Amino acid sequence: MGALALAHKKSLKPLAASPDLSFLFRKSIADHLQASPENIFLYWKGRVALYALLKSMNVGEGDEVIIPAFTCVVVPNAILYLGAKPVYVDIDRKTYNINVNLIEEKINPRTKVILAQNTFGLPPDIEAIQKIAQKNNLRVLEDCTHGFGGQTMGKPNGTIAEASFFSSQWNKPFSTGIGGFAYARDPMIISRLRDLEKQFIQPSYKDQVQLRSMIAVRNLLNNSSAYWMAVKTYRRLSKMGLVIGSSADNELNDILMPADYLKAMSTVQMNHGIGQVARIKEYIDKRISIARRYAE
Ligand SMILES: Cc1ncc(COP(=O)(O)O)c(C=O)c1O
Repeated sequence: MGALALAHKKSLKPLAASPDLSFLFRKSIADHLQASPENIFLYWKGRVALYALLKSMNVGEGDEVIIPAFTCVVVPNAILYLGAKPVYVDIDRKTYNINVNLIEEKINPRTKVILAQNTFGLPPDIEAIQKIAQKNNLRVLEDCTHGFGGQTMGKPNGTIAEASFFSSQWNKPFSTGIGGFAYARDPMIISRLRDLEKQFIQPSYKDQVQLRSMIAVRNLLNNSSAYWMAVKTYRRLSKMGLVIGSSADNELNDILMPADYLKAMSTVQMNHGIGQVARIKEYIDKRISIARRYAE
């Protein structure tokens, strides 16, 4: 990885985030979501988008957020970092998504948000979730980390509720290595997300060189027999915090917010993301054909 990092360092473009690049990436995402670039916010990881959205919805100390019992550990983490409590609801065996019949019994005066998670590209029953939310005066936030590019009820996934977040981590519908973004329609949430951006740290030069090198290695190894061996090594190194990873050890074993958690998206991710979004149909078609083979 060291030699590759050096090779890529030579070809690196300036590392300061250019507003044009951010605009172009946000526009490419927005076009797919039938939204405007102003509705899109970019982050170092998807979990940061979740944290920012919850904070913008005023979720804090003592509040409760309803989440599916089958989710990623970083989801309850983001809620705990805000001083709120994740409340688990069991899932439906057929869809791996939240069982809507079990939601209401978990609602109490402290409940603020229901997280509607799309699991493995299967949308949750968003209509039923929104009805429950309306009845109980709650907000709905879509966890669309697995769902970019698909549709629910004739609308792009992640655009039915007032806000959603997406991931562009390694195995998501399109990948920027790691990365994430938020979508919001409510002007109040948009304005709070903008304010919050001022507190974010920028990715370091080292972060960007490392990420760019890892993307290059992945492209090199894709479809080769060494791929899974490399993935195994990468997971081990990232858990130890030796390379940029999806989740460091402290996120898996602790509930304290890591010091560098509130990080903005880097130019490396934006640059790579623009090309990736352009190929989303190709990626989804490939996933559909693989899913068909599994089904058979
Ligand atoms: C359901 C779900 N929510 C949230 C996330 C967090 O996304 P990220 O890894 O980009 O922070 C993941 C990541 O795999 C996920 O599977």
